[in-house]
Amino acid sequence: MLEEKELIRLAMQAAEKAYAPYSGFCVGAALLAKDGQVFTGCNIENAAFSPTCCAERVAVFKAVSQGVREFAALAVFGRPLEGKARNFTAPCGVCRQVLQEFCSPEFPVIMAKNEREYRTVPLGELLPHGFGGDFFK
Ligand code: THU
Repeated sequence: MLEEKELIRLAMQAAEKAYAPYSGFCVGAALLAKDGQVFTGCNIENAAFSPTCCAERVAVFKAVSQGVREFAALAVFGRPLEGKARNFTAPCGVCRQVLQEFCSPEFPVIMAKNEREYRTVPLGELLPHGFGGDFFK
């Protein structure tokens, strides 16, 4: 598997592309597929605010729209427009729900300040008792 460090580096690189004129907070995500492909995303804001899309969802939707649905890991990185990351950016609730659609509870979510400082938390801990397709059965 691609090293955590490399996935974080790709998330940090993706944050460079963030369109975040309203919050001033730049987020990058790098989603590793089981076949080895990496799909990156950045947050894309909107003047009407609610159409804003998080970096994680951009990455997931890019992958799924290209026929890839099996994932091995996700790295997330967030920083102010000017400056370094001060926190371990965590996926928002909506992104956790979107990840749950395609990923198991063991799926590792890597929250990074940089390539050396990061925390890895399984998706099941980030979204316990989530709503899933099983409820339709
Ligand atoms: N944001 C993300 O892209 N991912 C997260 O995990 C948290 C929040 C974005 C949305 C918005 O553009 C900005 O960060 C501030 O909330």
